[in-house]
Amino acid sequence: MKYAFWIGFLALCLAGGSVGASQEHSDAVSYQTAFTNIEARDSIDLSGPWHYIVDPQKIGILRGDRRRTAVFEDVSEPDSPVDFLEYNFDAAPVMEIPGDWNGRDSTLTWFDGLVWFRKVLELDAPPSGRTFLHIGAANYKALVHVNGEKVGEHEGGFTPFAFDVTSQLKRGRNSIVIGVDATHEDDSIPTPITDWKTYGGLTRPVHLVTVPDTWVHDYFVRLEAGDRLQAMIRLGGGDVAGRKVSLEIPELDLALQGSGDKSGVASFDVDIPKGLERWSPVSPKLYDVTVSIDGDAVTDRIGFRTVGVDGSQILLNGEPIFLRGISIHEETLGEPPGRAFDEDSARALLNIAKNDLNANFVRLAHYPHAEVMTRLADEMGLLVWSEIPVYWDVAFDNPQTLETALRMQQENIVRDRNRASVIFWSVGNETPQTEERLAFFDAMIRAARAMDDTRLMTAALHNVRSEGQVYVVDDPLAELIDVVAVNTYQGWYGRAPLTRVPGAEWQNPSGKPFLFSEFGAGAMYGFHDPEMEKFSEEFQEAYYKVTLEMVAKVPGLAGLSPWILKDFQSPRRMHHEYQDYWNRKGLISPEGDKKKAFFVLRDWYREIAKQ
Ligand code: GCU
Repeated sequence: MKYAFWIGFLALCLAGGSVGASQEHSDAVSYQTAFTNIEARDSIDLSGPWHYIVDPQKIGILRGDRRRTAVFEDVSEPDSPVDFLEYNFDAAPVMEIPGDWNGRDSTLTWFDGLVWFRKVLELDAPPSGRTFLHIGAANYKALVHVNGEKVGEHEGGFTPFAFDVTSQLKRGRNSIVIGVDATHEDDSIPTPITDWKTYGGLTRPVHLVTVPDTWVHDYFVRLEAGDRLQAMIRLGGGDVAGRKVSLEIPELDLALQGSGDKSGVASFDVDIPKGLERWSPVSPKLYDVTVSIDGDAVTDRIGFRTVGVDGSQILLNGEPIFLRGISIHEETLGEPPGRAFDEDSARALLNIAKNDLNANFVRLAHYPHAEVMTRLADEMGLLVWSEIPVYWDVAFDNPQTLETALRMQQENIVRDRNRASVIFWSVGNETPQTEERLAFFDAMIRAARAMDDTRLMTAALHNVRSEGQVYVVDDPLAELIDVVAVNTYQGWYGRAPLTRVPGAEWQNPSGKPFLFSEFGAGAMYGFHDPEMEKFSEEFQEAYYKVTLEMVAKVPGLAGLSPWILKDFQSPRRMHHEYQDYWNRKGLISPEGDKKKAFFVLRDWYREIAKQ
């Protein structure tokens, strides 16, 4: 009982509120949590060449009295205070940032240690107002320094964060040094054991953001189920109490004025504006929305829709919708693959899903993808499953691990809760059914609902109870989530022949919407075998045919997101002939070549879409 109390208390505190805080304040964000809509801010984009130094023994992290080299001091003048230098950024190689080091430097393909990055910034004058260093993502830990002074640390490889560097920056030469440590521990989120490659580094854009002394920090604008338009706007900086706050949607002739409360939060709750066109995959309508105070204004592109459940159905704008999905890792097409942080890479993947496969839904596995992915999903009309990488055997009994997961989830929700495409917040994937895991997810789900009660909570389950060919989804986690999702691999893992697959029956006692979040089989593109040996395209094609037969029989199924759009790199897939460190369950090859099974799913979706 003590443990559960501690978990619940921690969740509430970490969600930003103190115990008993009212809901609209339950997601108070610290300034280390990034701004909403960074791309719309007045900023210096620090993309481009950064010098980097690989630090295999992490000697740049000062520890105890052993001689350490304070790399982050970036001392390079000959008359330096130390007797001799064993590093020099000016003489070091450069790497194009953003981008994972695995793809940028072939000697780092599987390196998951510490690399120091340094950018020199010349300023004509110290910036006016407040200046923050905003990092889109750094996998896994970031140690941030400006002019030799540490400004902060961040843990978590897939969500943005920002540090106030106003007092560190000066006129003239400024040295920004970020140590990125890709090492994962057993108490990390995720642990070192994942079926995907650890891409290390500054994997998403880095900006220097300047804001006035009081600024618009975070906001959401959304439809509430009861046909209301709701908004919350949080100001940052001093003098926030009582500040006039405006919310405008010109295309709807909407201009609202309000004022912030003593903590700088303004809320609006009005009737839906006349003529508002709801967002949907068929009609992904976005509006220009401007949030402003005297001296600061931010414009965003926001779609308005509602999502909910009715018995076993998922409702979009009050109507049942069937999710024709596909799972996607955030990994570029082509070789060497890398993190898909840029618009072209993201659009290439989503285009295949939407326009070739005829999908209306993407499961962005197993971690928050780059913001550009969810913004493109808004624009193109794809529903999104967004997930925190609580993956497999996480340290569910460790309060520090929970704190990491809660903060990661908060950073993800603050970043993406204005994206109409995002309908699911998933707390994790394929986790063991233990008391600790249930308490851990209970805390995550409470914190997520406290921040955003307009989306559906889910998780990918896997250890279902089987009675012969009957599979019963009785995981206790099903009680806490809104949509029950299951990963299943009959016919691929184990020796059951494909002929048994259509006979499988599924029971979902929860009665909640049910979807298959994963099923799949491996195939090496171009390997053909009429005998349908595993890893042949013919096997994968036959697997999809029989699995879709099984799927079609599940009463009230709400959707599916088969595993997976594209082959992806994984340190666990070591079969030299068929895998060579690639998970081959993709429907397309690393280069984007469509395997035979791609067309099976595409045709099945075409038929479904006609219904
Ligand atoms: C699991 C897991 C995936 C993994 C897949 C596989 O379901 O969720 O991350 O890649 O199975 O075995 O290929």
